[in-house]
Amino acid sequence: MTVRQILKMGDERLLRQAQPVLAFNTPELLAGIVDMKETMIAANGAGLAAPQIGWDVQLVIFGTGEVIPRYPDAAPIPPTVLINPTITVMSDDLQNDWEGCLSVPGLRAIVPRAMKIRYTGFDEMGNPIDRVADGFHAKVVQHECDHLVGILYPMRVKDFSKFGYNSVLFPGLAPESDD
Ligand code: NI
Repeated sequence: MTVRQILKMGDERLLRQAQPVLAFNTPELLAGIVDMKETMIAANGAGLAAPQIGWDVQLVIFGTGEVIPRYPDAAPIPPTVLINPTITVMSDDLQNDWEGCLSVPGLRAIVPRAMKIRYTGFDEMGNPIDRVADGFHAKVVQHECDHLVGILYPMRVKDFSKFGYNSVLFPGLAPESDD
């Protein structure tokens, strides 16, 4: 169990198309997931994608099961390991909300995301996952799954007047408030 270093924007490993997981419930897979959970918690993140620790697989984790102080109105997201995910947009409605990323520390931007999605995939044991999510939950899943196709949220910013430093945009927020 190890808190791993999180790669930062500019590292080419964040730009790869991640490889599908071919075998579930293996010691390597389970150990990697433990490291990811510890890394996410240590960094106070809302989610983490395997490429962020340099692990080239289609695997994301998100959800703490608790309300996040930065998003007090958002329902808690169940702790989830999502492998080989697919996302289907369920609504043309967009949400425009602030986003940060542990690979882009200290910054935040308004990013348009689908309001409602269906996501499918597998947990670490190979059990299928099939959920419909909206709002904050949908936003987190879209952000994390973008990491699996080499997309960081700044690539999705439309209005660069809403892109800046946390400490300037939200002076009352704790500096470690990234996600
Ligand atoms: Ni991120």
